Order: sequence, then C-alpha cells, then structure tokens
Amino acid sequence: MLSSHIVYIIGFMGSGKSTAGIKLASVLGWSFIDLDRRIEEHAGKTIPEIFSQHGESYFRILEAEVLKSLKSQTNTVISTGGGTPCHGDNMDYMLETGLTLYLKLTPGQLKNRLSESTRERPLIKDLSNEGLLGFIDEKLAYREKWYNRSEITVEGINLNISLLHSLVKSSLNI
Ligand code: S3P
Repeated sequence: MLSSHIVYIIGFMGSGKSTAGIKLASVLGWSFIDLDRRIEEHAGKTIPEIFSQHGESYFRILEAEVLKSLKSQTNTVISTGGGTPCHGDNMDYMLETGLTLYLKLTPGQLKNRLSESTRERPLIKDLSNEGLLGFIDEKLAYREKWYNRSEITVEGINLNISLLHSLVKSSLNI
C-alpha cells in the first residue's frame, strides 16, 4: 500500500530540531523542511526582521499559515519553531496531519546551547546569561503542556538517530 507521511519535530528553541530533522529525513530518504526558513522565504524577511517590524502576533499568523500550507507534502520531516505547537490550533493540526516528535532537554541543557545564539532569536535577544535560565525555566514549564501531547518523546541530548529512525518507523508502521 502506498502511503504518505509527515513527521513534525517539536521542542524548545535550541533543542536541535533542525539538525535532528535533517538527519532523520536523510535516513528515511524523505524531504526536509525547516518551518522558520519557509516563513522567511514567504515573508521575504528574516525572523528577527518580522518580529521587529511587525511584532510577534503577526509572526504567529504567518507561522500558522505556512505550517498549514505544507499539508500536501509527502514523506517529509518538518522541523517547527519552538513556539509553533503552543499557538492557535497548531498542535491539534499537527496531531491530525502527521506524527509529532518532541525533543526534550532540561532547562540547563537548553541554556548551554542557547547562550551562544541569542542574537538571532528575538524572544531571548535582550536577556543576560542569568535572565536566560529564568526565561527558559518559566517558558518551558508553560510550553510543555503542548509539547507533552506529542506522540513520541525523546531525550534531545546525545540523540541517537538510528533509535529515532526505528521509533518513527514502528509508529508509522513502515
Ligand atoms: C520561537 C522559536 C524560533 C522562531 C521564533 C520564535 C519561539 O525557532 O520560530 O524566533 O517562540 O520559541 P527555533 O525554535 O528554531 O529557535
């Protein structure tokens, strides 16, 4: 039987969604889409420009539109933005249209990853090193309500791609 699938990679900023998505797509022999890059192409602006020129609410509208425009993709891994599942009905939409996979890291692990790359991320660009951990603690606790609805959860640190590959194949029965 021919079937077509989408796998959505979900998780906080800095959890390694794009890297994992690229590797997973490669072992599956599927396409890969980075939702943030698609939003930038659609808007003709970078994410920081969208936030600074139009604000976060406008970004969230674009994010939902671009996410839902990918419905007819076949055999594709999509890495989402850290806030994607937590706005509007995006999480319900992803649960209905594909397999959701949460890359889980602790606040400390996320802070270590994010402290080098705050500039390209509008939500954390003005935070000090100490402020960053507090922000992650609070935001992650809030966002996990959505992240935890994912069908698969894996530890994002030292991610084993063959394990991920097997989990995805058995969940999709492929
Ligand atoms: C955001 C995460 C970013 C990007 C935007 C908002 C968030 O993506 O979508 O800056 O709300 O957590 P990454 O998770 O790829 O950094």
